[in-house]
Amino acid sequence: MDRILEDVVEVRSHLGPDDERTLADDVLDGLTRPLKELPPKHFYDARGSELFDAICELPEYYQTRTERSILEAHADDIVARTGAVELVELGSGSATKTRVLLDAMQEAGTLARYVPVDVSASTVHAVAELLADEYAGLSVYGLVADFERHLEYLPEDVGPRLMAFLGGTIGNFPPGSRRRFLRSLGKRLGADGYLLLGTDLVKEPRVIEAAYNDSAGVTAQFNLNVLHVLNRELEADFDVEAFEHVAFFDREREWIEMRLRAREPQHVRVEALDLEVDFASREELRTEISAKFTRERLRGDLAAAGLELVELFTDPDELFALSLARPA
Ligand SMILES: C[S@@+](CC[C@H](N)C(=O)[O-])C[C@H]1O[C@@H](n2cnc3c(N)ncnc32)[C@H](O)[C@@H]1O
Repeated sequence: MDRILEDVVEVRSHLGPDDERTLADDVLDGLTRPLKELPPKHFYDARGSELFDAICELPEYYQTRTERSILEAHADDIVARTGAVELVELGSGSATKTRVLLDAMQEAGTLARYVPVDVSASTVHAVAELLADEYAGLSVYGLVADFERHLEYLPEDVGPRLMAFLGGTIGNFPPGSRRRFLRSLGKRLGADGYLLLGTDLVKEPRVIEAAYNDSAGVTAQFNLNVLHVLNRELEADFDVEAFEHVAFFDREREWIEMRLRAREPQHVRVEALDLEVDFASREELRTEISAKFTRERLRGDLAAAGLELVELFTDPDELFALSLARPA
């Protein structure tokens, strides 16, 4: 389905019946494993995207404000070094921090096109309209797509490309597929393109755990929302109240795990898949990993993906990092 909003704004959707299949396959595969698991992309229906935006405003969630402060300090330098005329943003969400980069490109007189890519159709449409309004002459080409499967639908570059993958979303990939994914991004940069990668850094576990266990319970609502998605999309009958949010830092693997724990034994039917699933009392379903990085891990992952780290920007407390990389 294509939708033309105005002449400078175009949004294409590459999600369709196959993607309902993806959710079905993920549920069938994930809920029948010994450790039950679902991939995090299914959090982000319209409600999930709203909840994520609310998480970004929480006092415990240092990631968003820290990444923004790094962008504010270095956006001019990033734009000057890359000469970027277009910004491709993967997992763009509501693109609030993106404006810092777009402002710097506009100031440098290079800004031509913005390409937001997200599975959340509502956010891609909203962002495309809003940013085209805010930035005179900006062309916006939005993609409602799965960045793991649909990178081939990125448009041809219109000049030096800056591809941003912010918010620490790369941490949702387990190590092996993370490197594979980074390699696939390298192939979409073009000859003179750069990748700007936002990653949360390893730090005091107490600080990390607080960010995923906020006192207002917004992260818990976000986590539980995936059960509402399954109930709606696959006619499942999860009793959402019967599950509780769990998040802990795995000190050995240096990643956060988010899980949903059954408060007592549960029997669930997923009508659309003709699937019956049992949860023992206190059994957990893993819904997200969020890897934290050291400089060595970043350098190693980028190198293994055929990318050279050009500069690593961080904040004074080294909470978060933005890596600027290009094909080696
Ligand atoms: C952690 S949020 C980050 C949002 C924003 N970039 C930020 O920094 O605040 C992850 C974003 O990636 C999107 N997303 C997750 N998995 C995706 C996938 N496989 N393909 C496309 N978008 C995805 C979500 O809808 C969400 O907007």
